[in-house]
Amino acid sequence: MQNMTNNIMLKMTDIHKSFGELEVLKGIDFSVAKGDVLAIIGPSGSGKSTMLRCINRLEEIDSGKIEIMGRALAENGADGRAEYVDEAKSREILACTGMVFQQFNLFPHMTVMENLLEAPVQVKKRSVEEVRPEAEELLRKVGLFDKRDAYPGRLSGGQQQRVAIARALAMKPEIMLFDEPTSALDPELTGEVLKTMRELAQEHMTMVVVTHEMAFAREAASHVMFMADGVIVEQGQPEEFFAHPKQERTVAFLQNML
Ligand SMILES: Nc1ncnc2c1ncn2[C@@H]1O[C@H](COP(=O)(O)OP(=O)(O)OP(=O)(O)O)[C@@H](O)[C@H]1O
Ligand SMILES: [Mg+2]
Repeated sequence: MQNMTNNIMLKMTDIHKSFGELEVLKGIDFSVAKGDVLAIIGPSGSGKSTMLRCINRLEEIDSGKIEIMGRALAENGADGRAEYVDEAKSREILACTGMVFQQFNLFPHMTVMENLLEAPVQVKKRSVEEVRPEAEELLRKVGLFDKRDAYPGRLSGGQQQRVAIARALAMKPEIMLFDEPTSALDPELTGEVLKTMRELAQEHMTMVVVTHEMAFAREAASHVMFMADGVIVEQGQPEEFFAHPKQERTVAFLQNML
């Protein structure tokens, strides 16, 4: 990921974020190159979700710089506080990101197919005729073509999450953000979602994944980052990171997880 010859897709520089008195991000720096799969791990409350949500402006940073595919979404003004680009530019920059949440957040009153068509048609103003074959292809890819006319409520959690992934992919993102996509699932359903994510990784989708799944981080990630108390404690390539963690906090965390 630090390979500068690679195409940098996402760059976060000295990111600070507080909620009231509580400083949640205390100077976060990292970058993600094209095709990288960054796994972010760390204890509850360490700021992982907040960091992820800052990438696509679901939360706004107080200071620092966010660059997505070479374009600044926010950077410090003269007073040292982050200033965001205007709404239109922000939408344009963020159009290359897709996000999958812990709670799948599908539209319950729409069929699986309608869920996939919604954003490309409503946001990108593309025609249903044009988008439908792509949506069908995505549903085949996640193994749910036969569920295209079902409502989300009739699907298992694992199936719903795979629809959520397909729905995000329907917008043709360049960077996919995942916030604990398997944490709300029964253990027997996590495998099918992780399999879909592994396949995406193999296709060189650039991914940032907050996860508690150490096996996924070890096997599918190209880079692992351990956060605690709003800072990056340690990061590295999975083999080295898991085999030889250097910081005491990392060692303690991994002992708890494995
Ligand atoms: N909207 C908010 N308003 C106030 N405090 C918040 C808000 N969102 C998060 N926090 C606080 O910020 C801290 C970091 O939360 P965050 O959700 O980023 O942690 P996390 O690492 O994702 O934890 P988990 O593993 O439990 O999901 C927590 O103390 C949380 O209570
Ligand atoms: Mg979280």
